[in-house]
Amino acid sequence: MAFKRLLPLVALLSLLVAPPSSAVPSLQPVVLVPGNTCSQLEARLTDEYEPPPASGCGVPRQGRGWFRLWENFTALQEDSFLFRCYADQLRLVYDPRAGDYRNVPGVKTRVVAFGTTRSFGSDDPARKNVCMEGLVEALERVGYREGENLFGAPYDFRHAPAAPGLASRAFSDWSSSLRLLVERASQRNGNKPVVLVTHSLGGLFATVFLDRTPLRWRRRYVKHLVMLCLGVGGSPLNMWPLASKALASNPASLQAAVLTYGNRSFASMFSLLPSPRVYGRTPLVITRDRNYSADDMPEFLAAAGFSGDEVARYRTRALPVTLSLRAPLVPMTAMNGVGVPTVDQLVFWDGNFSGKPQLVNGDGDGQINLETVLALQRLVEADPDQPYFKSILIPNTTHKGMISDQSALKRVVSEILIGASS
Ligand SMILES: *[C@@H]1O[C@H](CO)[C@@H](O)[C@H](O)[C@H]1NC(C)=O
Ligand SMILES: *[C@@H]1O[C@H](CO)[C@@H](O)[C@H](O)[C@H]1NC(C)=O
Ligand SMILES: *[C@@H]1O[C@H](CO)[C@@H](O)[C@H](O)[C@H]1NC(C)=O
Ligand SMILES: *[C@@H]1O[C@H](CO)[C@@H](O)[C@H](O)[C@H]1NC(C)=O
Ligand SMILES: *[C@@H]1O[C@H](CO)[C@@H](O)[C@H](O)[C@H]1NC(C)=O
Repeated sequence: MAFKRLLPLVALLSLLVAPPSSAVPSLQPVVLVPGNTCSQLEARLTDEYEPPPASGCGVPRQGRGWFRLWENFTALQEDSFLFRCYADQLRLVYDPRAGDYRNVPGVKTRVVAFGTTRSFGSDDPARKNVCMEGLVEALERVGYREGENLFGAPYDFRHAPAAPGLASRAFSDWSSSLRLLVERASQRNGNKPVVLVTHSLGGLFATVFLDRTPLRWRRRYVKHLVMLCLGVGGSPLNMWPLASKALASNPASLQAAVLTYGNRSFASMFSLLPSPRVYGRTPLVITRDRNYSADDMPEFLAAAGFSGDEVARYRTRALPVTLSLRAPLVPMTAMNGVGVPTVDQLVFWDGNFSGKPQLVNGDGDGQINLETVLALQRLVEADPDQPYFKSILIPNTTHKGMISDQSALKRVVSEILIGASS
């Protein structure tokens, strides 16, 4: 294939025109924004922390400084009692006075290694290649160097962007840090604008971030947005883990609880629910007595046991973000997998949301439906102010495969390089 030969050639040419250095100087700086659960979190417990009764969760850690809360698979293997502690400490609570989500009292958290890609891996063998570690390696093979022209913007995935005017301190802080990171990356690289590369939920964070920056800034600093594995408007699959209160309160493991959005306390669990703009009245959850479409999401959440306040937060905080997604107005390439069975509808025929649903599959990457990718194309193409836009569909490629299959990675890297040289 042509691009196979192109990659070394690009690297070689730039070596010829510039003095050798550890990084290839002609490369555009790249900032990676990983998917859901792909950022590491550290926690510190203060005296204010009240562990669950008889759990022993406080004593060994209180006043002992920072430790890895998400995720330390090794520690959970060594001590299964930790599961209950970490689950409790990962919870968010909504603070009505601040109008925002925060940690439970006595738990301080921070994202590990912001600015770098060093925290994208996992010590859980089952989670190998789920995050962007394969993409980091592929970029290093064409000359990228951590901290020189390759950067990472991990974020606290429990939080989410909120509707304009509402507080989401975690998202605002991340946005400020990302803005500085992008500027610094550009300065370190001869003032070249950066290529932002996102996977899955990272695409939502990045597009909302961009939407809230001044257009002049965006056009000065962002050369190309390469958005992997995300359409516009969430996916019906994300309704499944929210369906059962019983399953969420009794998950098999910390990973199961968090990875499936199973934790109903996270602000982000509402962020990728199917959009009424994409799905409208199409039935997504089917029962004998009634169906739930994206328009009926508040009723669905209520039927799934969410409180009136929680449903109100879906309506006022998360839904407006979904409904107001816009073209980024910087050059953009969307890359998505197709040809993989992807849940379009969940059938809980007897109406028991704790049971296993029958799945009706459509097309997509296993998590992101083709329908939402086509909706993204229409949205971006309809904006007269959108510059270059390309949507690439890669057959037989899964959500995870896009950032781990060697053939998909080659395509991704070549798009990053093409954007960089145009
Ligand atoms: C995970 O826990 C183990 C011990 O249980 C510890 O040795 C290791 O340092 C921890 N990992 C991180 C990244 O903190
Ligand atoms: C999720 O939240 C519930 C309470 O809403 C809590 O009991 C549970 O431990 C939390 N689990 C995780 C994994 O955070
Ligand atoms: C629910 O949707 C299914 C599939 O579209 C349809 O056949 C059925 O009649 C609907 N049921 C109700 C109660 O509206
Ligand atoms: C719903 O399904 C769950 C899991 O299969 C089962 O334990 C529970 O008894 C069911 N509830 C009802 C009301 O049938
Ligand atoms: C799809 O990918 C799977 C696994 O990578 C492979 O076994 C299968 O042959 C592929 N199918 C097509 C139609 O390319």
